[in-house]
Amino acid sequence: MQKKITGIILAGGKGERAGGALPKQFILLNRKPLLLYSLEKFQANPLITDIVVVTLKKYISKVEALVKNNNIKKCCEIIEGGETRQESSFLGVGNAPSDTEYVVIHDSARPFVTHKMIEDTITAAIAIGSATTAIEETNTIARSSSSGLMEEVLERKYISIIQTPQAFRYDIIIEAHLLAKADAKSDFTDDAGLVLHYEHSERPIKIVAGHESNIKITNQLDFELAECILKNISK
Ligand code: CTP
Ligand code: MG
Repeated sequence: MQKKITGIILAGGKGERAGGALPKQFILLNRKPLLLYSLEKFQANPLITDIVVVTLKKYISKVEALVKNNNIKKCCEIIEGGETRQESSFLGVGNAPSDTEYVVIHDSARPFVTHKMIEDTITAAIAIGSATTAIEETNTIARSSSSGLMEEVLERKYISIIQTPQAFRYDIIIEAHLLAKADAKSDFTDDAGLVLHYEHSERPIKIVAGHESNIKITNQLDFELAECILKNISK
């Protein structure tokens, strides 16, 4: 029987680093709002049964129109997010349909998510409970002191750059969020990090292959990079 797997698409940020009048998830990339790239991928993916979109209150009607006009039929909820990404994620997970068995959480700021990433994270979450996409680091990474002195070069082969999508068995992710809430923590920037922090000893998190093209659009330059990636993808 098909498992109940809910996609949670996070579009509740203000996009302050990107600047501009509109939050970045609504900015057009090749005539299509950034958010629509992830929505279409999740809609088309056969493993995902429902989609919850988390957004800013004043943009709920904009997302409703986007969903309607583009036939995103799996979208069952469009809800208001929170002050931080963690809060938005918690609200998304909390508003998933009640029979949800797994969730796949994704930043709308990453338009180039692939079906393989979605499927690999889900497969790993079904096998061991939690999974994230990630890529290898190519730079040298150092830990530094607060006074700006270099302290230690980290061993690169153990460094991963974490991306989304991330997938979790429902009980694991909701428990981690509730523990963070009880702990008054609200600044985790991803859900795998949250699970790792609160469930470390019992809950392994599988790292599956992301891709260099699965960028998170953060600043203006990233929009130019995204145009280049899009041209390459459509070749
Ligand atoms: N996000 C969210 N709710 C928030 C903050 C972020 O749903 N309160 C979402 C964003 O919409 C984005 C993803 O989480 O898709 C990753 O966050 P980030 O890249 O930091 O986006 P913003 O918070 O919008 O950007 P900035 O930090 O520059 O303001
Ligand atoms: Mg942010």
